[in-house]
Amino acid sequence: AHVVTENCINCKHTDCVEVCPVDCFHEGPNFLVIDPDECIDCTLCVEECPVGAIFPELDVPAGQEGFLALNAELAREWPVLARKIPAMEDAARWDGAPDKLPLLKR
Ligand code: SF4
Ligand code: F3S
Repeated sequence: AHVVTENCINCKHTDCVEVCPVDCFHEGPNFLVIDPDECIDCTLCVEECPVGAIFPELDVPAGQEGFLALNAELAREWPVLARKIPAMEDAARWDGAPDKLPLLKR
């Protein structure tokens, strides 16, 4: 499966959802996740994310391995998002900001 990682937090551009052929993105207050049971590894979303937050599960950056379990867990709790919506306010400011995980809202 593919995995949404830390740099999505507080950005949530949602360009990714537009290209997903199986609508496996789920939306929380300030983050999106991919349902690993639905993702077919088409890879289309990777290039769409303006902040480079999506990786194949075997290529998740060091230190962000916890996002695999987090995507699986939150995909069960959050609703599907299948259409692009406006990015979060201040998305540009949060791109690349360190240590965003504690800011994740559930
Ligand atoms: Fe959807 Fe393809 Fe991205 Fe998986 S890799 S989340 S199927 S767009
Ligand atoms: Fe997040 Fe990038 Fe999608 S910021 S919502 S993974 S386009």
